[in-house]
Amino acid sequence: LRQKYIDAIAGAGDEATLEDLRVQAVGKKGEVALKMRELGKMTPEERQVMGPKLNALKDEINSALAAKKSALADAALDERLRTEWLDVTLPSRPQRQGTIHPISQVTEEVSSIFADMGFAVAEGPQIESDWYNFDALNIPPEHPARQEHDTFFMHRDAGDNRPPHVLRTHTSPVQIRAMQAQGAPIRIIAPGRVYRCDYDQTHTPMFHQVEGLAIDKDISMANLKWVLEEFCRAFFEVDEVELRFRASHFPFTEPSAEVDLRCSWQDGTLKVGEGDDWMEILGSGMVHPKVLAAGNIDPDVYQGFAFGVGIDRIAMLKYGIPDLRAFFDSDLRWLRHYGFAS
Ligand code: PHE
Repeated sequence: LRQKYIDAIAGAGDEATLEDLRVQAVGKKGEVALKMRELGKMTPEERQVMGPKLNALKDEINSALAAKKSALADAALDERLRTEWLDVTLPSRPQRQGTIHPISQVTEEVSSIFADMGFAVAEGPQIESDWYNFDALNIPPEHPARQEHDTFFMHRDAGDNRPPHVLRTHTSPVQIRAMQAQGAPIRIIAPGRVYRCDYDQTHTPMFHQVEGLAIDKDISMANLKWVLEEFCRAFFEVDEVELRFRASHFPFTEPSAEVDLRCSWQDGTLKVGEGDDWMEILGSGMVHPKVLAAGNIDPDVYQGFAFGVGIDRIAMLKYGIPDLRAFFDSDLRWLRHYGFAS
């Protein structure tokens, strides 16, 4: 019996076989237990000899089982170590990194240039009441400028008596909000999304503007001109720029000017500050007295200038991008081509 089990245990190839052997040999109904039961029929002398022998056999089988079990576990571990190894010296696979969207990069850049000139960043809602978007900016209902804005109107059910709202068509309503919130003097920019129902190579229904507003007791067009020149030098990274102030009309500024930048196109890239072309980059003017009044600022004491720049537009100019719509296509090949993604 002893030899049978010791040999079988030594030859067992896995834990399941080992467990079967344990049950057969030293389990409750195993062969050793059967032999123990026979002790009862023996004479006391025989029992004194056989009892200890059977106990010793049981111990021996149990320790053989335990030894074999740990040997099997060691072998399994060795096998895993042999097959599941990693070569930590292999070069890692390249990981593509996300990058900041070009419009966000340009917005950051614009904000930091104006921060250097003492302008803080202000914000307003993208769903704006038509009072802030139009009336307060001296664009009453029926004013032709309302039609020119290609406005998206928020739907209202019959009986809804909340004031009418629109998707803001420009960042100028933030002028009014800033005036009401902080009073004069003011020096802010307001970058953000604006919406107009328009779509072609140079227009998308959502685009970005940055508004500028400076109000104090002795602000003039001369301050506006310097701030814009300083901005263009920093943004286009040139030593000298030339701006052309072209008389224009906005209901919320008087006088109003559209500002063009002297430039030229050389092999598809823009050269700023030289050449015979003029590129329109923004609208501006002195804040209309009615607009100051709507913002609770006394127009007899304070004046200010305001301007609005198309962020997407100056980003296209700076990076030589011909189609504005590409900014919103999320095409990685395009982003990589312009160096906006890795
Ligand atoms: N809000 C004007 C636009 O969207 C731009 C502008 C801003 C003009 C401030 C003058 C002053 O076209």
